[in-house]
Amino acid sequence: MSGEHSYQPVTQEIAGQLQSIVGGKNIIFNDVERMQDYSHDEVADPAYAHMPEVVVKPQSAQEISQIMKLANKYRIPVTPRGGGTGLSCGAVPVLGGIVLSLDRMNRILEIDKENMMVVVEPGVVTREINIAVQEHGLFYAGYPMSFESCFIGGNVAENAGGGRAIKYGVTGHYVLGLEVVLPSGEIVEMGGKRLKDVTGYDIIHLMVGSEGTLGIFSKIILRLLPLPTATAVLLIPFENATAAVAAFPKVIARVGILPSAVEFMDSLSVETVYKFLGETPPRPDIGAMLLVEVDGTSREKVDGDCQKIGEQFLESGALDVYIGNTPTIERKMWNPRLKLAEAFKAICPVQSLEDIVVPTARIPDLIRELERLSQKYDVLIPCYGHAGDGNLHATPVMKPESPLDIWKEKLPSLLTELYQVVYRLGGTISGEHGIGSKRASYLPLVMNPDLISLEERIKQAFDPLNILNPGKIFPLRRNRYK
Ligand code: LAC
Ligand code: ZN
Repeated sequence: MSGEHSYQPVTQEIAGQLQSIVGGKNIIFNDVERMQDYSHDEVADPAYAHMPEVVVKPQSAQEISQIMKLANKYRIPVTPRGGGTGLSCGAVPVLGGIVLSLDRMNRILEIDKENMMVVVEPGVVTREINIAVQEHGLFYAGYPMSFESCFIGGNVAENAGGGRAIKYGVTGHYVLGLEVVLPSGEIVEMGGKRLKDVTGYDIIHLMVGSEGTLGIFSKIILRLLPLPTATAVLLIPFENATAAVAAFPKVIARVGILPSAVEFMDSLSVETVYKFLGETPPRPDIGAMLLVEVDGTSREKVDGDCQKIGEQFLESGALDVYIGNTPTIERKMWNPRLKLAEAFKAICPVQSLEDIVVPTARIPDLIRELERLSQKYDVLIPCYGHAGDGNLHATPVMKPESPLDIWKEKLPSLLTELYQVVYRLGGTISGEHGIGSKRASYLPLVMNPDLISLEERIKQAFDPLNILNPGKIFPLRRNRYK
């Protein structure tokens, strides 16, 4: 079971063997400065970081396989790493050992226009996929907010969601096939270029979201959709958060149009991000804001949909509606939303960026609870995110003037209470960032112990020595490392 194994340190001799697998330039050993980058993901608080002992950069499934065999032989933890944009410490080597970085496996292997599929290696930056397929009138709909720097392999490992899940669903909807290096080093193919497949277990969707604990993807087959050629964005200010989150489900039901995104920002988020950008918000009296995106294949239809949606929002309490339908204006309207995480990091890096998810109709209850928790624990809890699918980044941030030791003392109780609230509302801890090591100790708050034990037994069947990404998802029982 997780954490009950002992591991060996990476010796000079083992590093030499790793070097002979990946080649001299593709290993970092005995170089603290260069390894620093591999000790953390996007989680801002340095308390969650951990240094690897060695970083290796394989270029093929065969090389990954050899690394895994060696790691099993010497009992060394291996932590796979994509773009490092994660927010649950999934790529942080919490028990040391080997970080296996996939950045050299970055080829788009095939664009299959007839089947509307693309075959990629795990280290392709997600946006690059869309750049490559759009000239063929195609579109990859998985869309994490970090699409400019995250890797597709990490998206599959985390089952990344993002801003467009309300219409297009999450990464897993588009994964049709995988080549996987199993923890013990075998290379297997799962699924393929087929839209239907009920042959054996749906193992692909066990691998999707397995957070790098069940295998390392060396090849990914993704489904593509016809490219939406027209988009428009509505920026909609409200007097307060409750008015905003109560309005959108009603409006969507009334107009019968499914937007491609419905993003929410509370007043603290609006104020903070505009200040960070050095810009003035569209009105001085904004208590909350929605950003709604509509897409389609006809300019006329998309503009007409926007008009209808805008009118309904005005009837449902919006203070105003701003519409943009050119790429430059749309980018400008999205920008505050895209910069939010960065803006709060600038206020205080001591924070806990959460991605709780609740049924959309319970968002107003959640907002009330967040206000209560913010007062009770005397921390900032800005709330922004993917209101359209109930996945909100309610992020406890230490007030910069308050002492660090008090924050450290209260954070576990605050998170426990937050997760309990979310669970009571029919939600759960993570909608898109995963459990990783950051939230592992909280899993029992929202998951039945028998189910945790079943999942741990699945992990054990894949990885009997607990070599691949130990310390993730499941609470560590013991944390022995010698
Ligand atoms: C976002 C990241 C934090 O939505 O998931 O901005
Ligand atoms: Zn998000």
